[in-house]
Amino acid sequence: MLSAIHTGKKAAGEKAAEYIRSGMTVGLGTGSTAFWAIEKIGRLVSDGLQIKAIATSLQSEQQAEKLHIPLVSFAELDHIDVDIDGADEVDEDLNLIKGGGGALLREKIIASSSKKMIVVADEHKLVKILGKFPLPVEVIPFGWEMTLRKLKSFGCIPVLRKKGDQVFVTDNGNYIIDCSFGAIPSPGDLHSRLNNIPGVVENGLFTGMCDTVIVGYEDGSTRVITKSV
Ligand code: 5RP
Repeated sequence: MLSAIHTGKKAAGEKAAEYIRSGMTVGLGTGSTAFWAIEKIGRLVSDGLQIKAIATSLQSEQQAEKLHIPLVSFAELDHIDVDIDGADEVDEDLNLIKGGGGALLREKIIASSSKKMIVVADEHKLVKILGKFPLPVEVIPFGWEMTLRKLKSFGCIPVLRKKGDQVFVTDNGNYIIDCSFGAIPSPGDLHSRLNNIPGVVENGLFTGMCDTVIVGYEDGSTRVITKSV
């Protein structure tokens, strides 16, 4: 029996799979909501859906392999039709904070290479203004202490992410510094300024990338929000 919050995640993830058609190349997101999209895609593939997929993390890659979803590398593709991924926060302009699971760099490479990005999120992810969730920033290990100090000068509380008593290491061999800003009134501006710090590889602000959010509710219903242009 799923908890109420996971009922919403499952509903959102499974709904997103309805956007996939045979012939598409699909980006597979990371996290407990994208998990359900991948499971549903696996079932559709075993029923005959013909797609190629590329995963945003080793974890999602392993899930896709188990489900016999055909995976391709960037060398074998020239575009991605649709990317389905989760988010930690979604604001009213469909700007996102991502990276709670530590996969933000691959997630951003895939989202930025996709014709369409669909975000799947439980209702608790919707916010008026981004920033309550600490912003994950991926940094190279060399000089991380200095990079952390530079991040602090932006007015946040930066914390090196740990897994147990070990430093958390991303699929790319980097570290994550979680930056509590409280509120991020200009996400696009902050995004560019953070990425200008030497040592910062990428940050978890996704602005202007997502045009569709599928929200899953605790009663199992879903709502589709599309960006008004
Ligand atoms: C991983 C992510 C996830 O998509 C995000 O953390 C949401 O996760 P979940 O669906 O488990 O709440 O960005 O890097």
